[in-house]
Amino acid sequence: MGRLIVVSNRVATPSEAKASAGGLAVAVFGALKDGGGVWFGWSGDVVSESVANAGPMLVKEGAVTFATVGLSRKDYDQYYRGFSNATLWPIFHYRNDLARYERDEYTGYRRVNAWLAHKLVKLIHPDDNIWVHDYHLIPFAEALRSEDIENRIGFFLHIPFPSPQVLQTIPPHDELVRSLCCYDLLGFQTQNDQQAFLDYIARTARGTVRAQGKGASVEAFGRKLRTGVYRIGVFPDEIAAQAARDEGRAEVLDLKQSLEGRKLVMSVDRLDYSKGLVERFHAFEQLLEQVPAWRGKVTLVQIAPPTRSDVASYKLIREELEREAGRINGRYSGLDYTPIRYLSQQYDHAKLMSLFRESQVGYVTPLHDGMNLVAKEYVAAQNPDDPGVLVLSIFAGAAAELTGALLVNPHDAEGMSEALQHALSMPLAERQARYEINMAALRRNNLGVWRDSFLGDLGSVPKAH
Ligand code: G6P
Repeated sequence: MGRLIVVSNRVATPSEAKASAGGLAVAVFGALKDGGGVWFGWSGDVVSESVANAGPMLVKEGAVTFATVGLSRKDYDQYYRGFSNATLWPIFHYRNDLARYERDEYTGYRRVNAWLAHKLVKLIHPDDNIWVHDYHLIPFAEALRSEDIENRIGFFLHIPFPSPQVLQTIPPHDELVRSLCCYDLLGFQTQNDQQAFLDYIARTARGTVRAQGKGASVEAFGRKLRTGVYRIGVFPDEIAAQAARDEGRAEVLDLKQSLEGRKLVMSVDRLDYSKGLVERFHAFEQLLEQVPAWRGKVTLVQIAPPTRSDVASYKLIREELEREAGRINGRYSGLDYTPIRYLSQQYDHAKLMSLFRESQVGYVTPLHDGMNLVAKEYVAAQNPDDPGVLVLSIFAGAAAELTGALLVNPHDAEGMSEALQHALSMPLAERQARYEINMAALRRNNLGVWRDSFLGDLGSVPKAH
């Protein structure tokens, strides 16, 4: 059996990959360790062109090699900040209004994919299976194929796949889909995402789509490939154990004391416009506005570490959020009460899990999200004897599985405020019943199932399709 090669824009450090929290990095590392392999991608550093070209830097951890390269300023600007995060990310999240298209950024995106692929070629053995992750690397397989790599190559998209009409707003949409067809297996988070891709193939690319097992096979652009739905998960029992272990940590006790018996609503997101943060604040405001009894009785803690802060639309969402938090707090705070505690900071994973366990409501309301692992982690971190309630957007991929959540439309402030009230006043028996439904779903489809079913399917696609 060959090894596994994982390719992703960001590569975990060996210590992240070995952490005990059971996250995505740990699951991927687990698969690499089993048969040996390579984890390849960007180091996260912007370096001079000569340093970039000298890479990759190799770090060995047992049978696994971590291989990373730096990006030059121009490559970072065009590939990461430009086409990946100012074109693909907004459009794949249905925010065409925030997207821009610049031809030189697209050219840079393809050039960096080809350059990365060329760097990887020397590390590939003939029997390796290659697993590529996410929207930064759509042309990666095509670039490997042009270097005569015939290994099986699979791709998993962590974010939504937009409907054909939305995708077609990207001028080179056909080239992107043609590139996707150079993979042997395409994995999506949800049926909707897979269907959007198949619709494009059938209607726009005039290809052929056939149902095959739980997925579908596709013939288009002179290639045959398979597609499937692989819902990413968490390791719920590991998270539960960690949250229970850390229940007594100082930060949790401090928070509890500072709440003075008030109910706690928790939200944790990267500071991204796809997460529906402003809409969420407005719905919380509605609750305080329409039900005065809740004033002084409930606190929303929003943790939102900034990301991609050199992309213009991220600066705007940050300013808007800060303005709205200030306005709402100005209106409803008391001398001893602040309704929204907004923390624009990074918190470590273990701390977050114990804060989740302390709260009465997990408030996860993205406008669009591939899966949203925070929703799953929130459920897993609860105390089974006194669980909190998950209020979840219908536009998170997780909504299809977490049927015990209170599902909301993030565009409906009143509906969300009603759901918050329902959650905050829910009797124990109903909270427990909903928690059990959600936990059973998380256990059925944990992170190991996601990883093993994708890799199992990749291993069974015929070579040289
Ligand atoms: C999303 C994407 C990932 C990405 C992460 C962090 O979850 O699907 O591919 O790594 O955001 O974003 P960043 O731009 O900081 O890597």
